Amino acid sequence: MIKQAKVRATAHTNIALIKYWGKADVSLNIPTTSSLSMTLDKFYTTTELSFDASGQDRLILNGEGTDATRVKGFLDLVRQKTGQDFPGLLIDSQNHVPTAAGLASSASSFAALTGALVRLLDLPENDREMSRIARIGSGSASRSIFGNFAIWNKGHDDASSYAEPFYDEDIGLSMIVAEISQKEKKMSSTRGMQLAQKAPSYGAWVEKSARQLKEMKSAVQAHDIEQIGLIAQDNALGMHEQNRLCPEPFDYFIDETRQVLAFTEACYRSGLLAFATMDAGPNVKIITDKASETELLARFKNEFPNMAFEIAHAGGGLSYD
Ligand code: ADP
Ligand code: DP6
Ligand code: CO
Repeated sequence: MIKQAKVRATAHTNIALIKYWGKADVSLNIPTTSSLSMTLDKFYTTTELSFDASGQDRLILNGEGTDATRVKGFLDLVRQKTGQDFPGLLIDSQNHVPTAAGLASSASSFAALTGALVRLLDLPENDREMSRIARIGSGSASRSIFGNFAIWNKGHDDASSYAEPFYDEDIGLSMIVAEISQKEKKMSSTRGMQLAQKAPSYGAWVEKSARQLKEMKSAVQAHDIEQIGLIAQDNALGMHEQNRLCPEPFDYFIDETRQVLAFTEACYRSGLLAFATMDAGPNVKIITDKASETELLARFKNEFPNMAFEIAHAGGGLSYD
């Protein structure tokens, strides 16, 4: 079989409405909860993969040579799992999303890398298998193989932990992303969640998350954006609570985060659809619908004239070009 010399794949980021925030198995990224996400059209990673003449794995990110430790660890696990001892790879990747700022660059980047890898090595292009491989790179990447709404079933081992499409339709949900900071976070998601899961209240959050997942599934199927927003907001704020309550506390919130959260609530109280979700970083995603986004965005721009905002809608799954 002649292998392609170079493969290019694109995957979009996804934002979880029911979060993944804790690992049952650290090396395989088996999570403590199942999660549900929407893939975004606006933010994505394109990765070009080829064999590297040096024989080493090398990473070029946004045109610059970058520390390849994490991708090398991932590729070595894939070498081990597939039994294919493929030679060193050149990973040439462009993030159309801020890197390590809580806007899910690890999700789009490991999904794109997985897609490119599978094609370069001539492995089966099976969505479930690709989701399992992407999961090993970064848990949230398991969901970025798919467009629209995906669920990552937590499972209990490498075979049973993968994401799949849940509702493959754009239901008119909009996310206004308040880009409070594009700086790389000090506390990675990987480390943050392992600290958080030591909080005494963590078990209660996990139990609530299972109930909220059921409610969220019904809300998505019903296209009920208000219900989606209310559940997602409670689930995300509960996640951040664990960070503050664990034995080595930390917080992704900064002053502007709190201001944006308070203003989101004020907008909701005034009758607009407006709810917040947040990941491992200070940026806030405001959940609303397509009918409300223009007015809501105008209100936010007026309130925070120096802040950057982007509107994202549902996006597609892994693609090749
Ligand atoms: P984020 O909130 O952006 O997902 P994480 O802490 O989960 O932040 O992951 C960020 C890390 O993901 C980076 O430090 C880097 O190791 C890896 N990463 C991000 N983008 C790429 C890319 N395009 N190619 C390879 N690795 C990447
Ligand atoms: C808060 O998938 O980035 O965005 O598996 O260690 O790479 P690793 O972590 P990552 O964690 C994402 C956490 C989150 C919630 C979510 O996307 O579900
Ligand atoms: Co991440």
